[in-house]
Amino acid sequence: MGPQARQVCSLLLLLQALTKPAETSDFHLAGDYLLGGLFTLHANLKGTIHLNYLQVPKCKQYEMKVLGYNLMQAMRFAVEEINNHSSLLPGVRLGYEMVDTCYLSNNIQPVLYFLAQENYFLPIQEDYSSFVPRVVAVIGPDNSEATITVAHILSLLLVPQITYSAISDDLCDKQSFPGVLRTGPGAEQHVEAMVRLMLSYGWNWIVVLVSSDYYGRENGHLLRERLAGRSICIAFQEALPAPRPDLAVTPPERERLAAIVDKLQRSSARVVVVLSPEMALHNFFREVLRRNLTGAVWIASESWAIDPVLHSLTELRRTGTFLGVTTRRVTIPGFSEFRVRRAQAGPRAPNGTSPQPTCNQECDTCLRATETFSTLLTLSGERVVFNVYSAVYAVAHALHSVLRCSRSTCSNAVVYPWQLLQEIWKVNFTLLGHQIFFDQKGDLPIGLEIIQWQWDQRQNPFRSIAFYHPTLQQLKDISPISWHTPNNTVPLSMCSMVCQAGQKKKPVGLHPCCFECHDCLPGTFLNRSGPGTELELSRSLLNDFSRLPLPTDEFNCQPCPDSEWSHRNDTSCFKRRLTFLKWHEASTILVVVLAALGFLGNLTVLGVFWRHFQTPVVRSAGGPMCFLMLTPLLLAHLAVPVFVGRPTVLTCLCRQALFTLCFTVCISCITVRSFQIVCVFKMARRLPRAYGYWVRYRGPYVFVALITALKVVIVAASVLTLTTVPTVHTDPSDPKIMILSCNPSNRSGLLSGTLLDLILSLAGFSFAYTGRELPTNYNEAKFITLSMTFYFVSSTSLLTFMSVYQGVLVTVVDLSVTVLNLLGISLGYFGPKCYMILFYPERNTPAYFSSMIQGYTMRRD
Ligand SMILES: *[C@@H]1O[C@H](CO)[C@@H](O)[C@H](O)[C@H]1NC(C)=O
Ligand SMILES: *[C@@H]1O[C@H](CO)[C@@H](O)[C@H](O)[C@H]1NC(C)=O
Ligand SMILES: *[C@@H]1O[C@H](CO)[C@@H](O)[C@H](O)[C@H]1NC(C)=O
Ligand SMILES: *[C@@H]1O[C@H](CO)[C@@H](O)[C@H](O)[C@H]1NC(C)=O
Ligand SMILES: *[C@@H]1O[C@H](CO)[C@@H](O)[C@H](O)[C@H]1NC(C)=O
Ligand SMILES: *[C@@H]1O[C@H](CO)[C@@H](O)[C@H](O)[C@H]1NC(C)=O
Repeated sequence: MGPQARQVCSLLLLLQALTKPAETSDFHLAGDYLLGGLFTLHANLKGTIHLNYLQVPKCKQYEMKVLGYNLMQAMRFAVEEINNHSSLLPGVRLGYEMVDTCYLSNNIQPVLYFLAQENYFLPIQEDYSSFVPRVVAVIGPDNSEATITVAHILSLLLVPQITYSAISDDLCDKQSFPGVLRTGPGAEQHVEAMVRLMLSYGWNWIVVLVSSDYYGRENGHLLRERLAGRSICIAFQEALPAPRPDLAVTPPERERLAAIVDKLQRSSARVVVVLSPEMALHNFFREVLRRNLTGAVWIASESWAIDPVLHSLTELRRTGTFLGVTTRRVTIPGFSEFRVRRAQAGPRAPNGTSPQPTCNQECDTCLRATETFSTLLTLSGERVVFNVYSAVYAVAHALHSVLRCSRSTCSNAVVYPWQLLQEIWKVNFTLLGHQIFFDQKGDLPIGLEIIQWQWDQRQNPFRSIAFYHPTLQQLKDISPISWHTPNNTVPLSMCSMVCQAGQKKKPVGLHPCCFECHDCLPGTFLNRSGPGTELELSRSLLNDFSRLPLPTDEFNCQPCPDSEWSHRNDTSCFKRRLTFLKWHEASTILVVVLAALGFLGNLTVLGVFWRHFQTPVVRSAGGPMCFLMLTPLLLAHLAVPVFVGRPTVLTCLCRQALFTLCFTVCISCITVRSFQIVCVFKMARRLPRAYGYWVRYRGPYVFVALITALKVVIVAASVLTLTTVPTVHTDPSDPKIMILSCNPSNRSGLLSGTLLDLILSLAGFSFAYTGRELPTNYNEAKFITLSMTFYFVSSTSLLTFMSVYQGVLVTVVDLSVTVLNLLGISLGYFGPKCYMILFYPERNTPAYFSSMIQGYTMRRD
């Protein structure tokens, strides 16, 4: 495309000079390289209103915005400083063109003006790499919506654009906006800082108020995303009505605001997050004041956190505590004085760059308004101002590289925007002690601060109370906040109060923050390791919660492990008490005394039988076999203490093997004895050969030995298959204790062991029962019947008892039954015989026995 074609294709811009060129205007400074500046000096939220007619809106008509003018002054200051100190750009003068964007209304025109060349032509070309627009870079604008609009145009031509306060993370999309950089952190960091603030004071029930525009929608959405899974719930969210340009309140708007304040007043949430440009808040806060709303904690987004005009509504202090998130304060030496300095006539502009005014480059009231707020602005220190200041310096440093400046000169080359953009991405320098460089997203990772509004004279109106570290995502250096509450207690904003220790939450409604508290039942516990009670809370205020382990499931109580138990509402389980039979218990003493008496009794029987060994009573009782019975009985009595005390492998073995063996020996002796009494005569008569063998091979002893051997095999088998190691099991009737016992599940082993004894005792009983007619002196049958019946009944009872009951009583019942069985055999079998020997010696003679037998035989015949 030739130069002629370019001429033809040139687009005549619709921009016309509305004001006379003013050499002393704040908005221009002639220079070798111009920077474009976009600031909001007047604000009108309804940015689209001007699209109804083909006219560039007049910003002057809207409310003035002091902070915007302050930022514009920062740009002027930075440029002047760079020009004054020749080391950065020696021999080069920076100039600027600044335009009031009136928030959203006037975005496009300034951009076209910045891009157009001296003759107001914007050439249409195939290749723009050699295109030189009016400005080399653009600083601003301030809000995300306007920044995106502007970026859509500037990024097409790769014109560097550094915004100082637009936080939208859409700008990080470098595919769409390669030319956009930002001297502050993005929305994600701002919202995260707010969430951290709420977390650190335990506020989990909040109200969110958003403006009904891009800012409110985007940040409200981001906040909800950030709160998901963070145990903070939104009680409700409301959109504030957009104000009219003249800030007059229409009746529907008043109604809407009143409804919102009513809702706030009724809600139990005390923390109100307000995400809105400050223009939409004047009417809202007036309504809040009119309604006497108090006790709220207002959390301001960066858009209004340091707004001097809202802050000057000193009545607001009545409504509660104002906290806000904003960029960190950096003092710029000399700026406070510069802010209110009148523009002076600069040196004459070099040829070709004489200022050509566009519209919206005027502000009659700005200086006066800034002077009014001068003290406040000075006290609050420079916050966003530093973002503008560093943006200008970043461009200057990049220019320094592009122009290959030495200490004294720079080449006076033409600077193409794309060249400058490449260099801006690479800058890395220190400015007032801060490292200025852009990360991959094009952001300057500078910290944020949480501030509190104060209204005392001569104090910083925006006192810093915490520092937010963007890379660590943590609040640091938290200083105490003066709450507007009695005794300066931290305001509570919770849907439900914290549950007591050991209580679980039962959700009420949809919010996880609203719940009822229910006690954890015995045997379950709940250990809240996260922030729980208020005490913990105040203690951990200075810590960061994010590093604590996540709170455990607070909606369910956990069951205790098997060996542990808990009381109602416990936060942990305790070890169950181990129980076993102890020496000092009454039942133990009773049973052991009984056993001791039994032992002595058996000893006596042994002595008596020894002395009267040759007498008929002893011989009819079995003679030597009596000693075979008495020895295991003595042994068993002696071994009773193995039931007492903490079970060990050895005592368990004794319990399981020794007693049952002793019984088997005794019972088999008794059985064989009653067999002999009743059946031997019949056997001798009917099966003489068998009787011969029975007598010759000492049948009774063989029988006893066989039975004992069988029993040994059974016992050995059961010991081998079932462990003898003491085991622990719970007591169903008292969960606080654990029973330490010998293999409680050994019922089958016990049954198999006892079964033989039972069969034997049943046999003994039958024989004895058949022989009940025998002469009285042979008639042990009665006593054998008695003791066998007793043994049978007690053993089956024990088995039944053990199968239905698992408690602590099992051991003591087991022991008692064992001792009673021992006593039953001793007394039942040997007792009557001893009685006869000792008290009726006349009946203990062979003559008496013969007479009895004769009498019996005669009666039978
Ligand atoms: C620049 O230099 C002029 C004249 O020396 C001085 O009046 C002005 O305050 C300086 N400005 C800055 C920002 O340093
Ligand atoms: C607010 O308080 C003032 C005086 O304290 C009172 O006159 C006014 O009626 C109150 N307004 C409301 C809405 O309660
Ligand atoms: C600059 O302007 C002066 C008069 O104001 C003129 O003499 C000079 O030729 C101009 N220089 C250029 C490069 O246009
Ligand atoms: C910037 O420079 C400093 C030292 O001058 C260096 O430590 C730092 O890593 C640099 N940062 C980047 C992003 O290059
Ligand atoms: C404030 O503290 C005092 C003493 O510490 C106490 O008696 C009073 O009840 C507290 N007031 C409130 C509202 O907590
Ligand atoms: C409960 O939590 C505390 C600390 O949070 C811990 O010391 C304790 O061991 C926990 N108890 C259980 C049973 O987990």
